[in-house]
Order: sequence, then structure tokens, then C-alpha cells
Amino acid sequence: MSDIFVPGLLKDRTAFITGGSSGINLHIALRYAAAGAKVAIVGRDAAKAEDQAAGIRAAGGQALGLSADVRDYAAVEAALRHTHDTWGEIDIVIAGAAGNFVAPALGMSSNGFRTVVDIDLNGTFNTARAAHAFLRKPGSSFIAISAGHATMPVAGQSQVCAAKAGIEMLVRCLCIEWGGDGVRCLAIAPGPVDGTEGMRRLAPEGARSLERMLATVPSGRQASLDELADLALFLVSGAASYINGAVIPIDGGLTNLGSHAFGEMLLDSVRARAA
Ligand code: HXC
Repeated sequence: MSDIFVPGLLKDRTAFITGGSSGINLHIALRYAAAGAKVAIVGRDAAKAEDQAAGIRAAGGQALGLSADVRDYAAVEAALRHTHDTWGEIDIVIAGAAGNFVAPALGMSSNGFRTVVDIDLNGTFNTARAAHAFLRKPGSSFIAISAGHATMPVAGQSQVCAAKAGIEMLVRCLCIEWGGDGVRCLAIAPGPVDGTEGMRRLAPEGARSLERMLATVPSGRQASLDELADLALFLVSGAASYINGAVIPIDGGLTNLGSHAFGEMLLDSVRARAA
């Protein structure tokens, strides 16, 4: 836990987190719960979401585990309604559900491309669109999880780059449309984060080029899950009350540099798997 952590900071606040059963989103959920928030963990797999929620309840927090595929608008809306019926107005929405695989454009079908855009971009729209009715107005925050991919072209990731670029522009448009309602709209754009499903898929153990890629990160390492959770906590704190429509990179400076080594790492991991 970092030095910005204040126990009780999110007391009486409710957070709704898609993709909340694992990785960055789960870590954010745990941090919000530790800060006193009531947390709805939403995932495709009902059992996984409920497991994580049960863990929070066992530690003395308040949590719901809910099942919804963000591609399914009615399912997302039902999960939001359930959260609202249980705890009242929602203060924080994290749109974090994402899908990914590594393949060059010529190695994926139209459906493969569409699947990632559907989960990442359309899923973020669905979550925002359905959430607006249930948000506290004024005083709530909508945060999408983007990636350095939005601004840094990466070989083997055209579908993710396109989807994440769309997410960032979507959030900036929503900020203009919803600013008057008192709903802040933001995006977090991580680079590589240690210990996530994303990095396990993109850089499986033994892929030679992880080290080479990290050598191109000005900070020389991956982010930790704690660093991501700290940023997500800061962004919903009073200290961030005038930050709106912003995309916040948390990438050790990676997106200031070329993306060649990153793409090489991904393609190397595909070769390693095929060998
Ligand atoms: C080419 C592929 C493929 C691959 C799937 N497809 N994997 N094409 N190479 N390796 C194609 C399939 O062939 C199919 O097209 C289409 O994608 C849909 O596949 P399904 O398996 O039917 O879809 P679904 O079950 O919905 O799974 C979605 C998924 C999967 C994205 C393919 O990987 C997934 O659910 N992932 C969720 C978890 C995840 O990836 N989390 C990490 C996010 S990390 P056809 O034409 O055959 O029907 C992240 C961070 C990025 O986003 C930044 C990191 C630094």
C-alpha cells in the first residue's frame, strides 16, 4: 500500500468494475474495497466474480460478484441495476473488461478483429451508456482502461491498438457531453504491468524479448499492480476533482519511444509457442 492510501477514503461510495475478476481491475477493486468502498465485481464468469467478491466480504468489506459479458448491453444494464438496487447511486465505474491475442493482421479473421473491438471498445461504450442513468450526478467518475497501444502502433496487436484508440476518443467525447452532469470521464493507459493475464499472454515465460522490450522503457521495468491501483485511487479522490477528459499514461515513459521492440517481443512469443 502506498503513501497516498487513506483508510476510509471511499467510505459510503459504490464502485462498479467490469473485468473485475482478475488483473488490473481486480487489484483496483481490492484497493477500493480496502479504502471502504462497496464494490461490484463484474465478469463473464459468474463463479470467478463471486469468488473475488466473497474474498472481499471475508475481509470485512462489502462486495457483489455479478456476471455480464460487456458485449451484451442488456446484461451490463442488469448488473448496473442490481448494484443500484442494492446500494443506491453508483459513484465510480471502471470499464476494464478486455480481450487480446497476438496475431498479425493477416493472421486474424474479420471476426477475430471484431471480437476484440467488441469487447474493448463496444464494451466500454455499453458500460458507459448503461451506467449514466445509475450514476451519482454530480460527483461520479467513469474510468476506462486503455493501453499504450492507443497511441503506439504495435505489430501483432492491430485489433487492440484500434480498439484502445477508440476508447480514448470515446472518453474524451463523453467528458464533453457529461461534464455538465458532474460525471468525470477519464482513461488510464498502462504499459506492461507485471503479474497480469495480459502480460502472461503477451510475454509467456521464456520469451527472449521481454528483457529487450523493457530496455526500451525509460523507467526500465514493468509497472506493479499496486502502482495501477494507486493511480485509480488518486483519480477518484478529491485531489483529482478537476481532472476531466484526461488519458493518464502509467507506462514508465514507454509511449515516448518507438514500439519496435515491443512488437518484436509479441511476435517472438508467438514463435516460441509455435516451436
Ligand atoms: C488469431 C484468434 C486468436 C489468435 C482468437 N482468435 N484467438 N485469431 N490468433 N491467437 C479469433 C478466433 O479464431 C475467432 O475468429 C475470434 O477470434 C473469436 O474467438 P473466440 O474464442 O470465439 O472468442 P471469445 O471466446 O469471445 O474470446 C475472446 C478472446 C479471448 C479475445 C479471443 O482471448 C479472451 O476472451 N480473452 C479475455 C481475456 C484476455 O485476453 N485478457 C487479457 C487482456 S490484456 P473466427 O474467425 O475463427 O471465428 C489487454 C492488455 C493489452 O487487453 C495491453 C497489454 C500491454
